[in-house]
Amino acid sequence: MPKKEAARRQSSINAQPRIHQRAAEIQAYGTVSHALPLDLEEPTRLEMTEQLNLLLADTMTLRDLYKKSHWQVAGPTFYQLHLLFDKHYDEQVEIVDVIAERIQLLGGVSLAMAADVAETTRIERPPRGREEVPVQISRLLDAHQMIIGHCRKLAERASDLGDDGTNDMVVSDVLRAKELQVWFLSENLVEMPLVHAQDPGIRQAS
Ligand SMILES: [Fe+2]
Repeated sequence: MPKKEAARRQSSINAQPRIHQRAAEIQAYGTVSHALPLDLEEPTRLEMTEQLNLLLADTMTLRDLYKKSHWQVAGPTFYQLHLLFDKHYDEQVEIVDVIAERIQLLGGVSLAMAADVAETTRIERPPRGREEVPVQISRLLDAHQMIIGHCRKLAERASDLGDDGTNDMVVSDVLRAKELQVWFLSENLVEMPLVHAQDPGIRQAS
């Protein structure tokens, strides 16, 4: 190797990591700049990614509401609710990933950071402190109801625009999972005697 070339390589190869780097974004939020060969027009991908980011922000907020509930729950049903809330938290984590990756594959940019999610979500902000179990569950159910309503409209719109992949994802991965979670939550708000039946006389008479 010539001396000059050896000196040049010596100066460009360095064991020092190049830390503290910053640069301009490679894609702005709210755009669908890179088009994969999906046979979906840009206006469709733009509308779908915008709607999916709303769904993402709400699902990320619901995910965090589950963890808050998991940590802060109190009372005689502590153990079962502590476990149920964490199971549903794990399920939201999976749903969040599916939604975010759908946004990226459609050419969009997924929301990711808590501050951006907080500015975007439509779910009511809970207090920092602890709340009673019925309030915790009601908050979770309200959040689910809002997301489910959005899912139904979004699935229909995706179908109208010919975006079958988004329609299928919204129905199969988001809507159906949330319907099941609503059932598991709602049954905890049924007034039910634990030891004595409410009207033992009816049973004795039959
Ligand atoms: Fe835990």
